[in-house]
Amino acid sequence: MFVRNCWYVAAWSHLLPAGVVIGRQILDEPIALYRTESGALVAMEDRCPHRLAPLSLGCVQGEHLQCRYHGLTFDTAGNCIDAPGTEKIPPRSTARTFPVAERDGWVWVWAGAPHLANEALIPRGFDLGDPRFTMRHGEIRYEADYQLVNDNLCDLSHLDFLHETTLGGATSGGWSVQPPRVTPLERGVHIERWLRDRPSSPGGNELTDIWSCYDFSVPGILVMRTTFYPRGSADRCGLAAPSDDLVPLLRRVDQQAVTPTGENSCNYLFAAGFEGTTPSPKAMERMYKIVMDAFAEDRTMIEAQQRIWDLTPASRKKAFLPSDKAPHLFRKVVARLLDRELNAS
Ligand code: FES
Ligand SMILES: [Fe+2]
Repeated sequence: MFVRNCWYVAAWSHLLPAGVVIGRQILDEPIALYRTESGALVAMEDRCPHRLAPLSLGCVQGEHLQCRYHGLTFDTAGNCIDAPGTEKIPPRSTARTFPVAERDGWVWVWAGAPHLANEALIPRGFDLGDPRFTMRHGEIRYEADYQLVNDNLCDLSHLDFLHETTLGGATSGGWSVQPPRVTPLERGVHIERWLRDRPSSPGGNELTDIWSCYDFSVPGILVMRTTFYPRGSADRCGLAAPSDDLVPLLRRVDQQAVTPTGENSCNYLFAAGFEGTTPSPKAMERMYKIVMDAFAEDRTMIEAQQRIWDLTPASRKKAFLPSDKAPHLFRKVVARLLDRELNAS
């Protein structure tokens, strides 16, 4: 079961220059994304109404998309405007289209009732094209329920164990010692914490305080700042959010999206980088390698976890740790939105 009245990240915007069509799957729905020659973005059912060939194998012709199999041609609203061999457009030849938007480097598709699509519901992220940020991006496919990936992203205590030598090591650990402050939001959770007296580099002598702060919003959008400050900053702030006049040593930023493709599969699109500084190519490469190694650790663990969940009755009660608060609250948000949709229909 998925929340349908929601914007889902379908792809990186830069994968879709004018004239290009690609295929994606969201909530078991095949979707063709294409950009017309004039720059309009279209999300259309990736299923030709004739013999169900994927339209993502077709070609963009000006403002239209032509199916490569037998040549039906569609306008941006999914109406068939040309059918080879006949003057008459056949009945049942319309392809469904979806509301689509572009923001912060991503293409977003609204999976629910079109009249409810509201761009104000798109969570704000950073932007790969914004010169304040230097980021590298990637995409991973998971054979696992997207909610297991969301659990993982809402509970960073696992950095100390699963990522002990990668992400945990890079921030010198301490993520599991004290649970973060978690605040419920209308469509997600806000998670923040100070990590005090952490070595600025693994094994280093210089100590820093780290402020980690992020929103996690439906369906699975993480927008996170990890900011390094001189030692003592956390206490000076009384463990509250750092004020604007506190000068950071370094700002890391992360923007991630979990998009379910089906019941037990999802795509994970991510960008990681720095704000307000241009790191050397070597520093960028080092950061990206750590992130990629950590994400491989996550995938191995979560896909293995999925296999055990598949063998376990849903009624089985699980142990609860203080660090489970954010994943628990986030699952409640998803359940509430699902409930609202089911009761409205
Ligand atoms: S399957 Fe598309 S035109 Fe035949
Ligand atoms: Fe992780």
